[in-house]
Amino acid sequence: MKFFLDTASLKEIREGAALGVVDGVTTNPSLLAKEDGEPETILLEICRTVDGPISAEVVATDTDGMVREGLHWAALHENIVVKCPCTAEGLKATRILSSQGHRVNMTLVFSPSQGLLAAKAGARFVSPFVGRLDDVSTPGMELVADLVQIFRNYDFQCEVLAASLRHPLHVVEAAKLGAHIGTMPYAVLLALLKHPLTDIGLKRFLDDWEKAKKEMGAKASR
Ligand code: E4P
Repeated sequence: MKFFLDTASLKEIREGAALGVVDGVTTNPSLLAKEDGEPETILLEICRTVDGPISAEVVATDTDGMVREGLHWAALHENIVVKCPCTAEGLKATRILSSQGHRVNMTLVFSPSQGLLAAKAGARFVSPFVGRLDDVSTPGMELVADLVQIFRNYDFQCEVLAASLRHPLHVVEAAKLGAHIGTMPYAVLLALLKHPLTDIGLKRFLDDWEKAKKEMGAKASR
């Protein structure tokens, strides 16, 4: 399973990348709007920090505009993946961009039928929004399971990019279901690592080691 960071914060991306387990980054207009600086500059710096797919989303709502913006993002760096929303216009833009060899991440996917259409249009990644479905009392993880099965049935060269993951169990569940990728905030990545028994166990090992060293020192000086 590949791990992507779902943020446009260079600080978080640098810290996450230093852990050695980050394979890519997803951004969206809301995440980029939170950061200071030009989106192009931020995206380029992200590309220099993480050598993997970096999603940059279009904000146009018509096909021509999406294609124009998508080509602009794609020209920035070879690692850029164009994110298009799952609308009729987005589907047409996905077909055009993918036919020209650009990778598309179809975003805002909330149903298996939307994911199936995205894959048919040539999307390289499909992003089911797990947390936002959970928010409206619909089990988001079931969508991940459905998409994994559908893509497997037909050997679609399209990866399930489980998105809107809000906590560690979302990531673990997505992994159990076979999602190819999970994109998560930096805080969730850190939470995956944390376990109180690890901290307690490490402290005990280090305390025992120090105690033994002191006892050996005392014996040697007798
Ligand atoms: C995915 O690409 C989106 O940027 C993201 O996962 C949305 O997550 P949210 O629903 O927590 O905002």
